[in-house]
Amino acid sequence: MEFSELVQQRRSVKSYEPEKTISDAELKALFDDVVLSPSAFNLQHWTFIAVKDAAMKKKFREAAWGQPQVEECSVAILVCGKLDAFKDALKIYKETPEAVQQKMVPMIHEFYEGKKQLQRDEAIRGASLAAMSLMYGAANRGWATGPMIGFDPEKVSTLLKLTPNMIPVMIVVLGHQKDAPRPRSYRHPVENVVRLNTLDGPGLKGA
Ligand SMILES: Cc1cc2nc3c(=O)[nH]c(=O)nc-3n(C[C@H](O)[C@H](O)[C@H](O)COP(=O)(O)O)c2cc1C
Repeated sequence: MEFSELVQQRRSVKSYEPEKTISDAELKALFDDVVLSPSAFNLQHWTFIAVKDAAMKKKFREAAWGQPQVEECSVAILVCGKLDAFKDALKIYKETPEAVQQKMVPMIHEFYEGKKQLQRDEAIRGASLAAMSLMYGAANRGWATGPMIGFDPEKVSTLLKLTPNMIPVMIVVLGHQKDAPRPRSYRHPVENVVRLNTLDGPGLKGA
């Protein structure tokens, strides 16, 4: 499918065929694409928890305001952001020439160390980009998805055993859509959301 067609067709899907399952092999193929997402300094501030087990999905649903799609989907994925991803710099840069490594690793540490707000911003940025890759990657493989922020972060963190260096950024439910696709919801016109040169510049008209 053409990428633009895929973008046009994608919807946040809320109802799924509960009997439809996804294999670990299918999930692995999908995540092989997802991990190619970009991230600042290539730090890959993401970790995914793929919940397929029926009993776990039921509990996950309870922690997500009871939203049925968390239980009915084939897999409910918690996209987590890693607050201390900068600590992986040495591992990530180990294959690079020594001069690059010696420059980048201390620079990355200095950039993030002790800066809680920046660490959180980056965890959310990185995980969100990966979540978008996950949704388009899944659409490319014939799966419907839905991003979700409607959950209790503390309950979800406890249930899925997150460590203190991880924050729950978003749930992405994935499965086979049950109902007919919804019509496209309202979007602000491009002209209103793309300004030329400065925020008070003219809106992009194209022609
Ligand atoms: C970060 C984020 C959180 C969302 N949380 C929920 C949610 O908890 N429950 C839900 O039903 N939809 C949720 N949505 C879906 C949005 O309502 C949906 O993306 C938006 O209405 C646009 O519709 P579309 O994605 O089908 O074009 C969320 C979307 C995003 C990006």
